[in-house]
Amino acid sequence: MAICYAETMVNVISVIQTKGGTGKTTTAMLLSSALTSLSHRVLVLDADKQRSAIDWSDDAGEGLGFEVKPVPTDRTLETALRRFRGDDYDFILVDTPPGSNAIVEIAAQEADLVLVPTGVSPLDMKRTQATLDSFIGTETPVAVVLVNVDKREKLLDLAQAQLTSHNRAALADTIIPTRSMTRRAGSTVPRIETKPFREWMELAEELTQAF
Ligand SMILES: Nc1ncnc2c1ncn2[C@@H]1O[C@H](COP(=O)(O)OP(=O)(O)OP(=O)(O)O)[C@@H](O)[C@H]1O
Ligand SMILES: [Mg+2]
Repeated sequence: MAICYAETMVNVISVIQTKGGTGKTTTAMLLSSALTSLSHRVLVLDADKQRSAIDWSDDAGEGLGFEVKPVPTDRTLETALRRFRGDDYDFILVDTPPGSNAIVEIAAQEADLVLVPTGVSPLDMKRTQATLDSFIGTETPVAVVLVNVDKREKLLDLAQAQLTSHNRAALADTIIPTRSMTRRAGSTVPRIETKPFREWMELAEELTQAF
């Protein structure tokens, strides 16, 4: 198990990555679906003004099994976390916008775990390095998960080596491959317990076992 924070109670997981289009919303939503299917009570806070998670939830309807609430400003995010943390939810996932800004800072400060989804390209790795470096000097547990990856890709080994040697973050054992079912999942209720989504269930299990 690569991620292990036995001493920590995790309630708030902020999905953060300064690079755009890396899979933050997909990770927040499919991990939430997987945690829900493992009988956890989950809330998603959409801190991105683009409202991708809200749109996904609106399109999907009630079958999703968890609520997505908009928190468009750093103030509303802080208020929502104060209100819902330790409430009826086992996990609150915060989907954040790309870049570094006040709302991402609050999401990072308030998180019990920061989850950083990244691809394996040199451009992805550079931005991931910068994202991880921004946590140097803080106590927040940070875990990286490789997403949208072709497992035959040689860059995968390089990325894994680079991330394993980074002493600020853990690297999830679970790797999320590129799948058309994952790409098409946005706006639907994913059939999360079926084969095309099995890695999302594995990631949910890895995370819950790490705490
Ligand atoms: N494992 C995957 N397999 C196939 N497609 C994927 C996978 N992960 C993400 N994608 C696709 O990549 C695109 C970007 O994903 P997503 O919107 O989750 O990224 P993001 O980091 O939230 O973007 P933004 O920074 O704009 O908020 C989407 O079209 C999504 O469907
Ligand atoms: Mg997004």
